[in-house]
Amino acid sequence: MDSDKNKIVKAGDLFFEPYLDREVILDRVSEMGVAISKDYVDKDPIFIVVLNGAFIFAADLLRQVNFHCETTFVKLKSYDGLASTGNLETLLGLESNIENRDVVVIEDIIDTGNTLHRFMQELSQLKPSSISLVSLLFKEEAFNYDYSIDYIGFTIPDRFVIGYGLDYNDLGRNLQSIYQLKS
Ligand code: IMP
Ligand code: MG
Repeated sequence: MDSDKNKIVKAGDLFFEPYLDREVILDRVSEMGVAISKDYVDKDPIFIVVLNGAFIFAADLLRQVNFHCETTFVKLKSYDGLASTGNLETLLGLESNIENRDVVVIEDIIDTGNTLHRFMQELSQLKPSSISLVSLLFKEEAFNYDYSIDYIGFTIPDRFVIGYGLDYNDLGRNLQSIYQLKS
């Protein structure tokens, strides 16, 4: 969807304006894929994609990884509408054994960090050799923790965004570019 890059889009009751173009996103995702391929080529990592939001980012990123890799999925929910609820619901749990594995978690966006924090606690109990974090977007101003995020696509202001997998109440995920809540 969204062939006209300059248009305002409506999702539910809200209006959004263009923020990151599809080409800009894809160039950056490709650079991230190259970096991850270089860092992990000899490590046989397992990628954990955090659904729903990361599904499009992960699809593009993982196709830039130039070695065979295992990919698995979890489905977490902590957001309702425009706000983080602070509660983490696991709607689909981890099926793979990650003990002694190098794990790479793929997120769409890190905002307050609450989702990540709770999930990292769960993962570390499963005794992986290492965990690294990849996020397409990072709202640095909203982040409440001191994790280092290993691979960040774009650091963005604390404004709500949709598109390229990200949603507002499940709308907007299929927009090719990223849009920001209109001020
Ligand atoms: P956190 O727990 O506050 O870091 O929020 C993380 C999750 O909330 C992300 O994985 C997204 O699913 C969702 N989220 C946070 N900010 C946005 C946004 O601007 N647009 C859409 N979803 C968001
Ligand atoms: Mg998410």
